This record gives sequence, C-alpha cells and structure tokens, in this order.
Amino acid sequence: MTNNYTIKDVSHNNETVIVTTEADNCQCDECYDSQTYQRVFDTYLVPEDVKAVSCSSTSESLTINWSDNHISTFTTEWLILHTSEYTKPTPHKDFLKPERIFWNKAYIEANKPTVPYSDVMKGNKKALLNNIHKYGFSFIHDIPHTAEDTEKMCESILPLRHTHYGGFWDFTTDLAMKDTAYSDIEIKSHTDGTYWEYTPYLQLFHLLFHNGEGGLTTLVDAFKCAQDLKREFPDDYETLSTIPIECHSLGDVHLVERKPVLIHDEDGELLQVSWNNCDRSSNYHMDNATLKKMYKAMRSWNTVISREDNVVWKKLVPGEALVFDNWRVLHARMKKTTGQRRMCGVYFDRYDFFSELRKVNCASEEELYKTST
Ligand SMILES: [Fe+2]
Repeated sequence: MTNNYTIKDVSHNNETVIVTTEADNCQCDECYDSQTYQRVFDTYLVPEDVKAVSCSSTSESLTINWSDNHISTFTTEWLILHTSEYTKPTPHKDFLKPERIFWNKAYIEANKPTVPYSDVMKGNKKALLNNIHKYGFSFIHDIPHTAEDTEKMCESILPLRHTHYGGFWDFTTDLAMKDTAYSDIEIKSHTDGTYWEYTPYLQLFHLLFHNGEGGLTTLVDAFKCAQDLKREFPDDYETLSTIPIECHSLGDVHLVERKPVLIHDEDGELLQVSWNNCDRSSNYHMDNATLKKMYKAMRSWNTVISREDNVVWKKLVPGEALVFDNWRVLHARMKKTTGQRRMCGVYFDRYDFFSELRKVNCASEEELYKTST
C-alpha cells in the first residue's frame, strides 16, 4: 500500500498544530521503524494532491484519515515537539549538555577538571565528557603507564579518528613524521589540523616517559580569548572571522585548506578556532590592504592568547592523560625538550563526541530520542 500524507493545519485541542511540510512523518509501523528511528517508506511516491479527509482527537493523540485510506496517529507530545516553533535545527546546541564555562589561568588552577581512569574503563564517561564540554578539557588520572592500556582506554571513550599519522600515535622526538610535533622544538599555542577540511575535535595525550627537561604543555581557552578580542579589538575580530587564510601540511602529505581563524555557525555563534602559526601558508589570496589588515588582526590575536593570565601551564606526567577540545582550546609545547620523551595519543571526531555527550546526559533512551526524531 502506498501511504500518502499531506496535512497543513489540524485543529487540535483548540490550537492549530502545523505538522511539518508534506507531513511524511507518520509514526505507524508501516511508515516508521521505532527500533531504528528511521522512515521506511518513500516520501516521493506520495502524490502531491493527497488530502486529510477527517481528523479526531483526544487529549492524548490526534488521528488523521487520509484520502488513500491510510490512518496516522500522532501523540500530543510528539506534535508539540515537532511543530516548527519547538523544533531546533541543531538540537545538540540547546539540550542535554552542561553550559560552557570560559576560563582563565586562575579559574583552572582552582578548579582542575579530572576524572579517574577506573571510571572511564567501567564505562562511566559522563563526568569526562561533561568536563570536556564545560571547560574544553579534562585530565584522566591513575592510568597504567603503558601504550597498550592507553590505547584500550582511548578505544573505550570514542571511535578513534584515523589520519596519515595513524589512529593511535606512539611517538618520540625523532621526526618520524615530517611535522613539528615529532621534533624537540618549542611549539606555540595552536590548534591541530588547520589543514584538514574537518578538523579533529578532541585530542588525547598521555606522556609515557620523559627523562629530561622542557616540553611543558600549556592550554588556553581560545573562546574566552575570542570574547576578549571582540571587546578590545572588534575590527580585528571581524577580520579573523571573515577572511580565510591558507594552512597546509606538506611534509608527508599535501593537505591545503583555507578557512578563517574564527569560524561561526549558522546562528553567528563561535564554533571553532583554527589557529596554527607554523602551518600558515605563504599563499595569501588577498590584496595588499587586506593583507595588512590580516597581519594587524593576527598580531592582536597573538597578544590576547599570549597574556599570562590566559595561559595554564602543566607538566604532563606518566599516569595522567590530557584530553581537550581542539576546536576551542589552544595547546603548546613550551621550552625545548631534552632527554628521551615518549608520548602517545589519539584524535576523536566531533560528531562522535556530541552523540556520546547527549547519550550520557539523558535520563532515559526515550528522553534522548523523542526530541531528535
Ligand atoms: Fe599540536
């Protein structure tokens, strides 16, 4: 049977409920698989002239008889959630996650986000994921000091993002890959992967061994810094938000991307900071006046992110991993590294993170899915 539904306005409990266009959202078993939350009929086989012949309602539900004899029943709760004024284009923005806290050095020194390894391995990831969303990072403490245990832990958090560096990295300062990360030099505050179209969202580091000096890690809340920049240097904020710059990775691969330093979403909210002075290309794609403006803006940005009260310093130690939001938090390796240093880690992707974040913050599966389907 072909199921046809077109409904525009349905009077229900004295209010008009507008069901989504072409109302191809029948919830009956023939049309919708409640196990997979997927539509299971072809919307485009429905003739455009199909009509709602009659409707009946109770306080619990609305039933519609269609001109092709199909019957749809919608619960009141479903109808309310799916009228346009309630439906969110990006549901993860507005529900099921803790509010973000933008921080400076003093705040983090008084509020270090950390969770025990044992919780993560027991599958209790809520505190970890919420820390990452709230502060942009979290530590995980009491990890066994081996690459094997770290890899298992990473795999238990989220699927690994595989790149030309591999899935799980285990590296020393031997330039095994042609990238500054694999060297012993100082690397100033940056985000990784400015040269990828889809930048990894999370990074996890675990220092397995170091018998020398240097190699201190710093963290900066770039979203907090962006607020400072906007307030103090609004023209520079505008420049970094609207004019793309080119970044590349040309050591082992040939990756080139152009994007602004400050990337905003469809609502104008800051979504991602993309900043790596080392990976910035010499191809500018802009006239001299714009180039001058860009250099001024980058200098202002560098000033803000380098302010002492914005930078948290940390000496990573074996047994304690750092996992951070690479779209929000800048990291750096300060002071030339001496001695032998072995580091391992991974990248994770944003969509996997938000999927898991929503899941751990929902009281029930029903609550999770009712606003997303
Ligand atoms: Fe990095």
